[in-house]
Amino acid sequence: MTWVMTSKKQFYLHDDESLLDGLLRTGHEVNYQCREGYCGSCRIRRIASSHPVDYPFQPLAMIEDDEILSCCCRVQGVIYINHESIKD
Ligand code: FES
Repeated sequence: MTWVMTSKKQFYLHDDESLLDGLLRTGHEVNYQCREGYCGSCRIRRIASSHPVDYPFQPLAMIEDDEILSCCCRVQGVIYINHESIKD
């Protein structure tokens, strides 16, 4: 089970639920468009996590070291995030 901690709520992800879908399900406002890792609009900041965050495929969107793509990243354990979407 993966626990997600934001400044707004704590919740867990369902099996096979993306971080983006979990954020939307729990009432967070998050930007997104493609849901496939190329537009970058779902970027959020990872503050800390108990496990490394990885991707099932190499996303095309450019992100900084402390950013993750909520639509397609794989998270495990516990993750603390700033759920506010990152503006350019
Ligand atoms: S929604 Fe486009 S990269 Fe996540």
